[in-house]
Amino acid sequence: MNRWGSENFTKYYDEKRTVVEKYLKDLSMNRPQNIPKMLWDSMMYSLLAGGKRVRPVLAMTVGEIFGLKEEVLPLAVALEMIHTASLVHDDMPCMDNDSLRRGKPTNHIVYGESMALLAGDALFLYAIEQALKNLNTVKSLQESNIINALNTLLEAAGPAGICGGQAMDISESSNFSFSPWKIAYFKTATLLKASVISPAQLAGALEFEIKALTSYASHLGITFQIIDDVLDVIGEKTSLGKNPGKDKTQGKKTFVELYGLEKSIELARLHSKKSIDALRNINRNTAYLASFAAYLESRTH
Ligand code: IPE
Ligand code: IPE
Ligand code: MG
Ligand code: MG
Ligand code: MG
Repeated sequence: MNRWGSENFTKYYDEKRTVVEKYLKDLSMNRPQNIPKMLWDSMMYSLLAGGKRVRPVLAMTVGEIFGLKEEVLPLAVALEMIHTASLVHDDMPCMDNDSLRRGKPTNHIVYGESMALLAGDALFLYAIEQALKNLNTVKSLQESNIINALNTLLEAAGPAGICGGQAMDISESSNFSFSPWKIAYFKTATLLKASVISPAQLAGALEFEIKALTSYASHLGITFQIIDDVLDVIGEKTSLGKNPGKDKTQGKKTFVELYGLEKSIELARLHSKKSIDALRNINRNTAYLASFAAYLESRTH
């Protein structure tokens, strides 16, 4: 057993990640003629910059549990586009003002603020446009399932998802008091939840399965942001690919700020365990989802 609780999980994850990278690389080399080159370059710069690809791999894992294979890819890639869009905006001078992301200069440093703003907008929308177009060509998928899945993506990206969470996150700096739990839930957990729920919806999962997965993914999402906050304090620049220590400088209300390091790590473990517990109600092979929780709890970048 490796430290992620499953011997095969590392290999499984890497295989899925390679599929995502290839899909994105192929996409980047085929710019539609009606998309301006400088905008495309800016979008693809951040999309291809690397990153762990947690959301698309998670979506592919859930897809497989419910019998989907490559049909789920357009959804998986859309999740990564939405996530990348949120990072491009998150790094802008008017937000977290970061200069390093995924080991590279941030989008606005390379392309300028106006183009970074547009690249983020474009990635958010292109995600849905592409997913809708490509999922519609898969004959085995039901139209109502496609609509439900895309609705989940839209909700996660919108005002009751990332945008809402980011609004709470920046207001926090101006002394509004939202708890880190609430901020983390909206800015981070909603998209991780969508990465789990939307492929299940695409496959037509049953209501009790969606319910169990919702609980799994909510705890997973909280674990993810707690560790993100922890790594901002104890992580290393080279492995993180971003500048640590930013949360304190910017007065962010993080888990570490509220609970301290040790207690935060303990809370991450607790929520990881809760997410694994929620899988008990699903009568399918969810071993890799449990491994996912163990991985996200112990990640170092
Ligand atoms: C960082 O996300 C931003 C948060 C939502 C906390 P990731 O840690 O998944 O970043 P990448 O995709 O690996 O770069
Ligand atoms: C960002 O949270 C969450 C998003 C929605 C992008 P953070 O601001 O903590 O993410 P990092 O630490 O910059 O990756
Ligand atoms: Mg932020
Ligand atoms: Mg940030
Ligand atoms: Mg952070």
